[in-house]
Amino acid sequence: MEKTLNSRKVKFFSGKELPLEMHKVRIVQSLNLVPVERRLEAIKEAGYNTFLLGTKDIFLDMLTDSGTNAMSDNQLSSMFVADDAYAGSQSFVKFEKSVLDVFNKKFVLPVHQGRAAENIISQTFVKKGSYIPMNYHFTTTLAHIQLNGGTVVELFTPEAMKIKSTNPFKGNIDIQRLEELIKKHGAANIPFIRMEASTNLIGGQPFSMKNLEEVRAVADKYKIIVVMDASLIGENAYFIKKREPAYMNSSIHQILTEMCNLCDIVYFSGRKVSSSRGGAICTNNKELYGMMKDLVPLYEGFLTYGGISIREIEAMATGLLETKEEDVVGQSPSFINYAVTELDKLGLPVIMPGGALGCHVEAQQFIPQVPQSEYPAGALVAAFYIISGIRGMERGTLSSIRDEQGNDIYADLELMRLAFPRRVFTLSQVEYIIDRLNWLYHNRELIGGLKFVEEPPVLRFFTGRLESIGNWPEKLLAKFRQDFGDSL
Ligand code: F0G
Repeated sequence: MEKTLNSRKVKFFSGKELPLEMHKVRIVQSLNLVPVERRLEAIKEAGYNTFLLGTKDIFLDMLTDSGTNAMSDNQLSSMFVADDAYAGSQSFVKFEKSVLDVFNKKFVLPVHQGRAAENIISQTFVKKGSYIPMNYHFTTTLAHIQLNGGTVVELFTPEAMKIKSTNPFKGNIDIQRLEELIKKHGAANIPFIRMEASTNLIGGQPFSMKNLEEVRAVADKYKIIVVMDASLIGENAYFIKKREPAYMNSSIHQILTEMCNLCDIVYFSGRKVSSSRGGAICTNNKELYGMMKDLVPLYEGFLTYGGISIREIEAMATGLLETKEEDVVGQSPSFINYAVTELDKLGLPVIMPGGALGCHVEAQQFIPQVPQSEYPAGALVAAFYIISGIRGMERGTLSSIRDEQGNDIYADLELMRLAFPRRVFTLSQVEYIIDRLNWLYHNRELIGGLKFVEEPPVLRFFTGRLESIGNWPEKLLAKFRQDFGDSL
C-alpha cells in the first residue's frame, strides 16, 4: 500500500506550474453536452434550481464532491472480497485497523453517512441551553445541534470573510473569543468544541496545527472535549504540509495522526474522506464510546455495519489508507489552486487562497447589479449552467432561511461553488471551466435576478423553484450564439 507518488518533484522546462495527475484513467463514463437551447429549457424545467436538473442535461457535474470522487483500483477490487455478515464481519475489522493506522483511534462506530454521526453526537452531548463553539457551521451540523436545543457559536476570524486573502489558514478558530465564550456561559454548558477540517462553507479553508494545539490547550484548561469533523481532513493535512513551515518535512500520515491525537472524537463522512460511502465516529475514550454506542443499532444498524453495505466498508477501509498519500489528498486542491490562480489573473472574484472541495466565485462582486433580495449566487449558478452545461451549487442567500417576519436572512457571502471531486476531471476540462467563466464575466451585465415561485419552508434550496426576473436568460443565449456560432 505504501507508495511514493512524487508529482511535486516534477519540474516543467517551460516553467509552468501544472498540477500533474499521478493516476491514469482506466474506467470512463461518457459525458453529454446538450446544445445551449436545451440547457435553457432544462434550467427552466428545473425552476432555476440546479438540484432539480437531471444528469442527462449536465456536462461537468460540479454540484458536490460528496459520493462523486473517483475510487482507486484497489478500492474497487477490495469490494469484491467483502465479508458479508450481519455481525462480526472481518471487513469491519479491516476498517478498524485502517482507522487505527490513519487516525490512531481504537474505538469505531460505523454510520451510514456524515450527518448520521452528527445525529448521534448531538443526541448524546447536546441539550437545551448548550453552546457549541466552532470555526464555522456546516448545514447538517447546525440542524442537528439546533434540533437538540443547542446553540451554534461561530468563532471565525475576520480573515475568513475576506474574498481575496493571502492568509493560509482562514479556517482557524479565534482562540481569544473561544476562551471568552467559555467564561461567559460556563464550561458546564459547553459539551464540546467542534473543529471542522477544511471548513466547507467558507470556501474549503483549512485550520493550522498550531490553532488546533491552542484549542486543545483551552479545552484541557476547562475540561471540555474536542470534536473534529474530519470529512475533509486529508485536504486539511495537505494544506498544513504546504502552508505551515514546521510541517514541511512531515508526511501526510504523521500530520493526520497528530491532528487526530489532539481531538477526543473524530467523525467523518466517508462520501468525502475516502471516496466511498458511509462514515464513522472514532475515539480512544472508552467512556465516550460507551455513551454513543447504543444509538448505532437504534438508528444505523448493528455495530459492525452501521447501515453501510459491507462492500462500501471495504472501500472505506482501503480509501482511508490512501488518504496518507500526498498525491491523493492533494489532487483536488492542486486543480482548484490552478483554476483560482488563472481566474484571479483574469480579474474574476474568486475566493483566495484556493481551498479544498471547490472553486468559489463571489456573486455580489461578479454581478453587483443583482441585489441580495434577487439571489445573485443562484442567478450566477443558473447563468453559468446555461452557457457551459456545468452544474454548480448555490451557497448564498438561497441556501439561507427567513426570519420570523418572513424576510430573507442575507448570507455573509454569495457563493457559486464549483466542486472538484477527487480525480474526476482532466486539466482540459478545467480549461473549459475557466474559459466559460471568463466569457460570462465579460458578459456579466446581461445577468439578472431570480424570484421564488415555490418555496418550501425548510431547506428550501433543495427543492424550491424560481423564475427569472425579466428575460435575461434569453438575452444571454442570444449573445452566446453571436459569439460562439454553432458551438455547443
Ligand atoms: N460535514 C461536512 C464538513 C460536510 O461537508 C458534509 C457533507 C457533512 C458533514 C455531511 O456528510 O453528506 O455524508 O451526510 N457535505 C456535502 C457537500 C453534502 O456537498 O458539501 P453526509
